[in-house]
Amino acid sequence: MSDPDRPEASELDENREGQEGPQLRLEAATRRFGALVAVRDLNLTLRPGRLHALIGENGAGKSTALKLLAGHLEPSEGRVLVDDELLSPATPQEAMGRSIGMVHQHFMLVDAFTAVENLVLGSEPTAAFGRLDLEAAAERAHRIGRQARLDLDLQRITEQLSVGERQRLEILRVLYRGARAILLDEPTAVLSPVEVDELYRTLRRLASQGATIAVVTHRLDEVVRFCDDVTVMRRGEQVLSEALATPTSRTKEPAENGAQLTARLTRAIMGGEPPPEAEPPDLASNADIVLQLDDLQVVRANGSMALDGLSLTVAAGEVVGVAGVEGNGQRELARALAGLEPLVGGSIRLSGDLLHHAVGPDGGRRTGDRSASVRQSRARGLVVVHEDRHRDELLLGASVADNLVLGDLGAGAEAEAVTSRFARFDVHPPDTGRNASELSGGNQQKVVMARAIDRDISALVLAQPTRGVDVGAARVIHHAIAEVAAQGAAVLLVSADLAELRSLSHRIVVIRRGTIAAELPTTASDEAIGRAMLGMEAA
Ligand SMILES: Nc1ncnc2c1ncn2[C@@H]1O[C@H](COP(=O)(O)OP(=O)(O)OP(=O)(O)O)[C@@H](O)[C@H]1O
Ligand SMILES: [Mg+2]
Repeated sequence: MSDPDRPEASELDENREGQEGPQLRLEAATRRFGALVAVRDLNLTLRPGRLHALIGENGAGKSTALKLLAGHLEPSEGRVLVDDELLSPATPQEAMGRSIGMVHQHFMLVDAFTAVENLVLGSEPTAAFGRLDLEAAAERAHRIGRQARLDLDLQRITEQLSVGERQRLEILRVLYRGARAILLDEPTAVLSPVEVDELYRTLRRLASQGATIAVVTHRLDEVVRFCDDVTVMRRGEQVLSEALATPTSRTKEPAENGAQLTARLTRAIMGGEPPPEAEPPDLASNADIVLQLDDLQVVRANGSMALDGLSLTVAAGEVVGVAGVEGNGQRELARALAGLEPLVGGSIRLSGDLLHHAVGPDGGRRTGDRSASVRQSRARGLVVVHEDRHRDELLLGASVADNLVLGDLGAGAEAEAVTSRFARFDVHPPDTGRNASELSGGNQQKVVMARAIDRDISALVLAQPTRGVDVGAARVIHHAIAEVAAQGAAVLLVSADLAELRSLSHRIVVIRRGTIAAELPTTASDEAIGRAMLGMEAA
């Protein structure tokens, strides 16, 4: 029963909507983790009505800076000020009470709950009643969502939401709790180009309604196209902070155009010139087919078709890029290749030999079959890097050293493997004894990649290999992928980053509704690829 003397959750924050957001300030803030200084003497001001981009290399301290502002971490020295008043105590509750909300780098949603349940989860006033008034919550969320034009079906089970929808749910969750300062940590890393545009439209709308917005991103085109202010961090310190020309004027002929701004920001991020971008190796015209996918069919838990007659071949030394709106079968394709997802139809061949095939409508769901098929993929040199590194790739509670040789244990020479893998990708901080959970997101991805490609590979399947990785490290990974192809492996590269697909692939295929819907040359424009992804006729 609800307590009549306590305000309903919905009333608590009601009056904040449309209110001007707070000005947030880090004043000479330093944050240490033991001997490591994650953020050093940082001054940063976020203003209401503005979209502020926070950029910098992996491990530069971006997430830490946002966490300081959101009360998730306490500064070791210096102060966090909200409208010139000290954030004290420095806790998420206090920050939320001052209308500051954070959307984390990795989603914090419970899959088995509905969207609306996730929304109210941990929302203190509601929980205090011991009963969740989901109907009222849904109604209020719906209204807030409409105002911010965040389109979402709140009754759906979270597991079935697309990544873009999860992202909207996370934003709705902080708005629901009355946030007027919204700090987003790499919100676009998981989004397709169309969703990125949508997200920034939402953020712009919120900013024009007075909200204070900060976005961490590795994609500089977003800074150029959408943001008002930019701060560049390097090794915990600020190296540049400035207001940008208004986004619209940048598309005309301003003093500095988008390309020049991007180049200048890249230099600030890296402290110098970036290494050159990798190119796909020359492809022999008579190269043998290595990976052959015939009429693949995979069914989702809800009975819908995740892969629906997908056929594709990749030759030795060839890099085939796979573009598509998230949720069109990319994840299941990678999982099927790894032997994790049973086929209900079709077959996967490696250099002509049958690797996986359908075993009847239900047979493949038995777990015994699955672990055998996973082992088989690996034994044949088919290496898959999954997109969800926390779920499918890393043991966050184990050391970086253990993670670097995960799956290779017993193979001998682990120590040397750790050292060479670690060095090749310049994992930071340079300490293999640390827990994987203590690494920044991009450095976690470097660990995943370092382990994956240091072996005999006949076919390499990569899902979002540089998601969350900084410009410099992304190029290191690109060179490594090109090298694997040059040694004769077939490479299937699934990525939401069209620039990445274009620069590394020999050709681009578009996956849509579980099948290959189009094939395009790498010279195709973003727009042409985007239209194919959405199933629109070519212009
Ligand atoms: N809980 C923690 N314990 C120990 N070290 C940490 C912890 N959190 C962050 N660090 C370290 O602090 C530094 C800054 O990390 P942070 O996550 O802020 O980087 P980032 O700029 O967000 O990087 P990325 O782009 O990879 O997400 C890194 O060296 C990281 O390893
Ligand atoms: Mg981060």
